[in-house]
Amino acid sequence: MNSMSSNKSSNLSGEIIVPGDKSISHRALIIGSMVTGKLKIKNLLESEDVIATADALKTLGIKINKNKNIWEVSGNGVGNLYGSNFSLDLGNSGTGSRLLMGLIAGSEVEATILGDNSLSKRPMKRIITPLLKTGAIFDDPNNDRLPIKIKGSKIPLPIEYFSPVASAQIKSSILLAGLSSTGNTTVIEPDLSRDHSERMLKYLGAKIHTTQLPNSSWKITLEGLPTLKPLNIEIPSDPSSAAFPTVASIITPNSEVKILNVCVNNLRMGLYDSLIDMGANISFSNRREINGEPIADISTRYSILKGIKIPKSRVASMIDEFPILCIAAVRAIGETEMEGIEELRFKETDRIRAMSEGLKSVGIEIKEKRDGMIIKGKGPDHSINGNVTIESRLDHRIAMSFLCLGLITENPIKVKETDTINSSFPSFFEIMNKIGANLKHK
Ligand code: S3P
Repeated sequence: MNSMSSNKSSNLSGEIIVPGDKSISHRALIIGSMVTGKLKIKNLLESEDVIATADALKTLGIKINKNKNIWEVSGNGVGNLYGSNFSLDLGNSGTGSRLLMGLIAGSEVEATILGDNSLSKRPMKRIITPLLKTGAIFDDPNNDRLPIKIKGSKIPLPIEYFSPVASAQIKSSILLAGLSSTGNTTVIEPDLSRDHSERMLKYLGAKIHTTQLPNSSWKITLEGLPTLKPLNIEIPSDPSSAAFPTVASIITPNSEVKILNVCVNNLRMGLYDSLIDMGANISFSNRREINGEPIADISTRYSILKGIKIPKSRVASMIDEFPILCIAAVRAIGETEMEGIEELRFKETDRIRAMSEGLKSVGIEIKEKRDGMIIKGKGPDHSINGNVTIESRLDHRIAMSFLCLGLITENPIKVKETDTINSSFPSFFEIMNKIGANLKHK
């Protein structure tokens, strides 16, 4: 396993394009497998997670080719996968494994889903419980962990499901199963999670409605058996990857960076809104829309930050960005408080624990709670020693967050097992060094 070190950098500057959005890339392949005809995808994220999803779909009999820079998916229409005894290894990918279970639940197909050490520790009951209601059969419905064997049905039952957590993976998995059911499938979630599945399904011709209920939860209803059109999809850049050069440039003195073509869907913007509330210089220009997703260019500059309390209502829209927010909080004046983030304990690793332990090792005062953290910022002027080794714990975002911190510490921060970065942002090293970061392979 490889390691990287991050060394003090003078200033970051330049214009960059980060790779395609991971969530939208998974969906383009999976929903693409259900269109009627050949769907073309531009700027697919070619990371390990997304390639694992493409390989799994190929194993299930879907024809997927790459022609120059365009990925082509020959869809079977909805509910048209067949066969049994398939083995699908989704590696590190929570999204791939959970969305594919939804796809399988809506076809007469049987497969075993596997994953790496990190994914095999993550909860799956949240997906099994609703999919059982659609008629899917699991070898052991009480087993909460991969490997899991699932058998779908040609005509799944249309269900109404109250999701206990705002999770786009749960919501999307149910909607994917609902595509081949004869009635309406409804998911109710406490806060609105990212809506890329809904936007893509609508763009391709499905009927899907989202409304807010009087108790402020959200109801998403999909009409079954649509004919999905094979329209071209262009994937915008990933705001969760752009988050790393954004925070790095905001905390590194004299920096000025522009990140082009980023997906600025408001259900993904929580980090950017929080940084602006903390006093960061961030601006958006060239706003436009591609295949139902809003995009813009993001300009960032070195900023003096102040600590804030992150509103609970913002958590769903920045669920993957708390590790890098913690790094910004280190440089803020005063305390940054995060609450209602227990879901972070179920990501690629327990991210509350990983950030608490890592930041304590560099001398930051941090209070860990069951569902939150309070970080006492060092402000812009106090030096931070560094000179520590951080374990990535097979979590790409933990690895990239500490590598961003190393750009402002007096001594290098070394991160072990950095290959995990390939699951979402394979060009992280090159792109960060292109704008002046001093990252080294060890
Ligand atoms: C994702 C949803 C989020 C996020 C994950 C990607 C998706 O998970 O953490 O990285 O593409 O649907 P939850 O939906 O479980 O919060």
